[in-house]
Amino acid sequence: MGTRLEGKRAIITGASRGIGLAMAKAMAAEGAEVILCSRKVEAVEAAAAEVNAVHAGKAHARACHVGKAEDCKALVDWAFAERGPVDVLVNNAGTNPFFGPTLAISEEAFDKTFEVNLKGAWRLSVAVAKRLIAEKRQGSIINTASILGMRAAPLQGVYGMTKAALISMTQTLAQELGGAGIRVNAIAPGLVDTKLAAVFAKDKALARQVTDRTAMQRIGQPEEIAGIAVFLASNEASFVTGQTIAVDGGFTIN
Ligand SMILES: NC(=O)c1ccc[n+]([C@@H]2O[C@H](COP(=O)([O-])OP(=O)(O)OC[C@H]3O[C@@H](n4cnc5c(N)ncnc54)[C@H](OP(=O)(O)O)[C@@H]3O)[C@@H](O)[C@H]2O)c1
Repeated sequence: MGTRLEGKRAIITGASRGIGLAMAKAMAAEGAEVILCSRKVEAVEAAAAEVNAVHAGKAHARACHVGKAEDCKALVDWAFAERGPVDVLVNNAGTNPFFGPTLAISEEAFDKTFEVNLKGAWRLSVAVAKRLIAEKRQGSIINTASILGMRAAPLQGVYGMTKAALISMTQTLAQELGGAGIRVNAIAPGLVDTKLAAVFAKDKALARQVTDRTAMQRIGQPEEIAGIAVFLASNEASFVTGQTIAVDGGFTIN
């Protein structure tokens, strides 16, 4: 148990499992109050209970579909009204409904990927930043991007486009909000063992394509992404903004 995030309150989307849940646990372990969100209320309540079992009273659960404007508004309204000012927003919810060549994706899957991965993060960033500016408070916004937003993304083209756009949004918002003391950064994980990446992680041939060009020669675990989120949320990162930090076992050095 540490104190690096003592007194801070964080919203973490996509926190019912995988990378988001690992971030919530790591932030609570450093003293933060964490508001976990995902679409499925039972799943996110179970995740919050897991955090509270170790860090009693630190976690709260809210259902929020980040692809729905009304859900995003309700989440931010609830957080500020019922818990207090939000210091940290982690836009981590993500989806990848189509796996295959970019020529074959449907309009519906294209729109859904952008709606959740990009527009949801934009909506929540705007809502939280406006509140922080009105209350003259500083803050930290952290976007979970992907190394697929920094490179070609074969078989995940549109997903990669959303993550590239998220990195662009990270830089622009960092520029626009820096004067208000709101930092905006992105984390770009490599292949991590979660449900979202199951199609890759569970297929030995596909996984090898990734691990063969990864310096560490393996895929990552969600807990290995969480530490950088704690750092970016903390005052240790007070002069870090607009950055995209790859946490990929060395994939992007090749
Ligand atoms: N795993 C990887 O290899 C990898 C690599 C790079 C980047 N990432 C990124 O990391 C982030 C987390 O993914 P993960 O790998 O941890 O996947 P995961 O284990 O499948 O978790 C995804 C989380 O997002 C939630 N979610 C999905 N759609 C949502 C929506 N519309 N609104 C709110 N919450 C939603 C899910 O809960 P519900 O189903 O209850 O909504 C779940 O909590 C994503 O942004 C992903 O793109 C992952």
